[in-house]
Amino acid sequence: MKSFSEEVSLALSRRNKRLSSKWFYDFKGSKLFEKITKLKEYYPTRTEKKILKENRIEIANKIGKHAVLIEPGAGDIKKIAIFLSSLDSPKKYVPLDISEDYMTKISKGFKKKFPKVAITPKGYDFSSNTKLPFKVNSSENIIIFFPGSTIGNFEKNEAVKFLKMLRLKFKAKKIIIGVDLVKDIPTLISAYDDKKGVTAEFNKNILQRINNELGGDINLSLYEHLAIYNKKKQRIEMRLKSKKNNNIKINGSKYFIKKNEEIHTENSHKYTIKSFKNIANEAGWKIKKTWIDDKNLFSIHFLDLAL
Ligand code: AVI
Repeated sequence: MKSFSEEVSLALSRRNKRLSSKWFYDFKGSKLFEKITKLKEYYPTRTEKKILKENRIEIANKIGKHAVLIEPGAGDIKKIAIFLSSLDSPKKYVPLDISEDYMTKISKGFKKKFPKVAITPKGYDFSSNTKLPFKVNSSENIIIFFPGSTIGNFEKNEAVKFLKMLRLKFKAKKIIIGVDLVKDIPTLISAYDDKKGVTAEFNKNILQRINNELGGDINLSLYEHLAIYNKKKQRIEMRLKSKKNNNIKINGSKYFIKKNEEIHTENSHKYTIKSFKNIANEAGWKIKKTWIDDKNLFSIHFLDLAL
């Protein structure tokens, strides 16, 4: 596992400049993402919430009694709140997030709303291989809630690894997972390149963090936000394109970025029902049920162990 500083210095010295999208999410980045989810163009969040709302009773029945709900990368407690009150005696809720500050804040809101459900937030980078920050009891009804199509930010092989890890390490019995669907390109592009420029600011937050945390001197206005659809890989790619030749200094090290050079900052894979089924099956899961909105924008799958 590379630190932010190691990854940045490696990425900026290579011809193929690639940073992981996980570095977007400091407190400010998480706030910006929250703003994105409310944009007119960004359909995934409101569509997923609508699907959850409309099917909350069926979802709650499928989850069953005494659930231990684990949410890796818990950005928005409002989603679990949609079906939590329909559950039969849930045992506890464990939100995990890379941004501990942000999570402490959201968990306060949760305690107010659901005083009877124990909440134990933990800081955890689920892309790492590190030990879980809590004990799992494999006899419990462990349910993973992974909404938002965060799975789309993983490379396909990483997505399979992650779904396997939920089975083997988290001892999950079931998964409820939100997956964005393949659709027309203009809808996709505008969702990742909104008119107000919030996604551009979110993308550039990675450069802002280099300045704030690593002592960088990047002039953010020299970089242009790009959102491109890669048809072959069925994914949106976000990049930052340099408008001019420029030098970057980070804590004594110098990097040269050419005009038109791009730093690749995020992939957001889109799936069909079939392509998602393939990766779920490869990871040892079976799709028990899929819910889709009436415009075919977004899907929620209920996965069970493929015994
Ligand atoms: C968190 N993740 C699922 C978002 C997505 O749609 O891939 C992140 C995002 N990037 C740009 N806009 C939103």
